[in-house]
Amino acid sequence: MTEHLGTVLLTERLRLRPPEPSDLDFTLDMYSRPEVVRYIGTGQVQSTRDEALQRLARYRSQFGPVTGVWLIERRDDAAPLGFALMKPIPFSEGVTAEQSDFEIGWHLHPGAWGSGFASESAQALVDHARAGGLQRLVAVTNPANATSQAVARRLGMTYQGATDRYYNTTCELFTLEL
Ligand SMILES: CC(C)(COP(=O)(O)OP(=O)(O)OC[C@H]1O[C@@H](n2cnc3c(N)ncnc32)[C@H](O)[C@@H]1OP(=O)(O)O)[C@@H](O)C(=O)NCCC(=O)NCCS
Repeated sequence: MTEHLGTVLLTERLRLRPPEPSDLDFTLDMYSRPEVVRYIGTGQVQSTRDEALQRLARYRSQFGPVTGVWLIERRDDAAPLGFALMKPIPFSEGVTAEQSDFEIGWHLHPGAWGSGFASESAQALVDHARAGGLQRLVAVTNPANATSQAVARRLGMTYQGATDRYYNTTCELFTLEL
């Protein structure tokens, strides 16, 4: 099996690169904050180094030729800001599909909110997906996660209403034809 180490993506202000073991303290700091995890997964904070290490290993294993989970850092001082993801999205139990749907997502440290960094990094993933031959992207959010829905809208994604198709739960669905 080919191991994909991930492409570095550059934007005006940001560098998106594969996460490294040295990102552990940042990862732990970020995912131990209730305001970060409130609308992600189980909504539970992760407060041990082991959990953060496992998360980093999982993120590093998700690189394919086009897909992956990138650490977002500021170009001018390499300060870590969060993660940008693009990967096959898990279908809910009972959903049958011939092909994967590809999800884009954004998790930023609260210190990096309100500067357009999520939208700028997500736009880089959209461009990367298009160049890599993906045809369609989806984004799903918790119904209450208005700031995340605003990112999807800023990217030009189309709101499709609520769906039960993914993650065994009800999400707001946004799509983008590439
Ligand atoms: C969702 C999340 C990534 C949104 O972050 P964000 O910083 O609001 O999103 P953006 O990067 O698009 O920034 C937009 C904001 O920056 C402002 N901004 C400042 N400078 C900007 C610039 N140069 N370009 C664009 N926007 C800019 C915008 O006005 C907007 O502010 P507003 O919300 O007060 O109107 C962030 O809240 C987060 O990480 N939450 C926790 C994890 C999470 O829930 N992720 C989503 C799961 S579905």
